[in-house]
Amino acid sequence: MKEKILKVLMETGGYVSGQELSEKFGVSRTAVWKAIGQLKNEGYTIEAVTNRGYRLVAAEGGDLLNQAELETRFTTAWAGRPLIYKERTGSTNDDCMMLSDAGAGHGTLVVAGEQTSGKGRRGRAWISPTAGNIYMSILLKPRVKPAAAPMLTLVMALSVYQALEETEHDRSVRFGIKWPNDIVVLKDDGNEKERAVYRKTAGILTEMRMEEMQIKDVVIGTGINVNMRSFPEEIAKTATSLCLAMERTINRAVLTASVWKHFEKDYEIFEKTEDLSGLKKAYEAGLVNIGRTVRVLDPKGEYTGTAGGITDTGELIVHVPGEDAPRCVGAGEISVRGVMDYV
Ligand code: BTN
Repeated sequence: MKEKILKVLMETGGYVSGQELSEKFGVSRTAVWKAIGQLKNEGYTIEAVTNRGYRLVAAEGGDLLNQAELETRFTTAWAGRPLIYKERTGSTNDDCMMLSDAGAGHGTLVVAGEQTSGKGRRGRAWISPTAGNIYMSILLKPRVKPAAAPMLTLVMALSVYQALEETEHDRSVRFGIKWPNDIVVLKDDGNEKERAVYRKTAGILTEMRMEEMQIKDVVIGTGINVNMRSFPEEIAKTATSLCLAMERTINRAVLTASVWKHFEKDYEIFEKTEDLSGLKKAYEAGLVNIGRTVRVLDPKGEYTGTAGGITDTGELIVHVPGEDAPRCVGAGEISVRGVMDYV
C-alpha cells in the first residue's frame, strides 16, 4: 500500500486527499494514514494539510530503494521493463537466469538491497550487505553473434560511467573506467595524475548461456558501492564508495534509473554494428588506463607496457617498449594491473 501511495504522491507532485487515496485503493482512510506514517518513518517528508490532503515535500535527500521509488524514476522503453525489486536475494544474476528459464524477456531487471551470495568475477564473492549499495542484473536476449556478447560488459561499464559523470559532484571527484569493466573513483588529493589513487566503486559480472550455437541469454550484473561507509579489511585498500568520494548521500533510485537510461541508448548503438565502434570514443574518454603503465598478466608470459585506447572489439591496446606494433589484450583470461596502484 505505502508503495502505491508513494507512487501517486510522486506522480502528482501536489496535494492528494486522504479520501481520494482511500477510494483509489479501496482501503480505509485510517489505512492511508498508517501508510503515510510508515513512509515518514522511512525518511520521506510528507506534509498533511486539512482540506487539501497529503503532499510529498522531499524524497531527494533520502536514499530509499523500493519498487515505487524505482518505477517513478525510470524513463526507459525496454531496459528495466519489467523491473523487480527485492529487499534481499541470493544473487540478482541467478534471479535473472531463473526468470529467463521461466520465460522472462529481454530487458527484465532485478534490483536488490542485499545479496546473500553475491558473485564477483573470477569466482570471487561480491560483498553485498544492506549498506546502501546497488545490486542489479539485467536479462538480455541479444540478437548479435556470440563472439560479440563479451563486449556487452564494456557497454555496461560505459553506461555506469556516464551516469556517474551526470551526477552532481565536485570537480575534485573524478570517475573512470579501469579496463575492461571496473568503475573507479578518485578523490583528488593534489597528486600528479600518474600517482593519483583510484579505487574501485563498481564491478560488473556478465554471464552468457548458449543454446544450439546461439546465444540463449546474457545476464549483466552490476554492483555499485554507493552509500557504504566502511569496508572489510581485505578490500579496504582498493575499494571505496561513491558517498565516501562525493561526501554526500546519493539517491540510489535516481542513479539506477540514470544507468539504465544510458544503457538503453548505448546498447542500441552496440547492436547496430555488433561491436564498440560507435561507443569507443565515449568509452576511451572514461578509460583511466590510457597513458599509464600496466602489467599484463598473460599466462603465456607477463609483460609491462603503456596502455593506449581500445580496439573496436574492446581489446586494450598496450605499447611495449622495444616493440614496433602494439599488442592487443583480450578481456577474457588476462588481467591487467596498475603499476603505481590499483589502476
Ligand atoms: C566484479 O568482481 O568486479 C564483479 C562484481 C559483480 C557484482 C554484481 S552485484 C549484482 C550482480 N549479482 C551478483 O551476484 N553479482 C553481480
